[in-house]
Amino acid sequence: MKIVIGCDHAGFAIKNLVKEHIAAKGYEVVDVGTNSADSCHYPLFAHAACEKILSGECALGILICGTGIGMSMAANKHKGIRAACCSDTFSARLTREHNDANMLCFGERVVGAGLALELVDAFLGAEYLNNGNHVTRVAMLAEIEKNN
Ligand code: RB5
Repeated sequence: MKIVIGCDHAGFAIKNLVKEHIAAKGYEVVDVGTNSADSCHYPLFAHAACEKILSGECALGILICGTGIGMSMAANKHKGIRAACCSDTFSARLTREHNDANMLCFGERVVGAGLALELVDAFLGAEYLNNGNHVTRVAMLAEIEKNN
């Protein structure tokens, strides 16, 4: 499975750890930057990562900034992106299973390296429960997106 990953300067250190971690598990990683700890603007990298998912090149994505919030806000401006900002593994798993989230966001200034890798494992290891009310509700999200 191909995973896109992006960050701003505030997520740069953990992005490198996440890349190594998921590559070692056999995922193919597409890195859309940033590529240094120099100050930059998170919406640029959120947008680049979303394009990789919306084009079909990547199945899922991971975005890291200081809090994860700016990245998730930017990502959720894209039709078809369902980004979840998580700092616990229960939410990271459930957002795949119930919301069919296709983008995990978190903050390097919020979670440590150990928890970051566990969030990623919980998210990538879970599958959307493609039935019943989950399907109805995810379709409702798309309807809201279409009409607003
Ligand atoms: C950068 O200082 C910081 O604002 C950014 O990484 C992020 O936390 C925004 O949501």
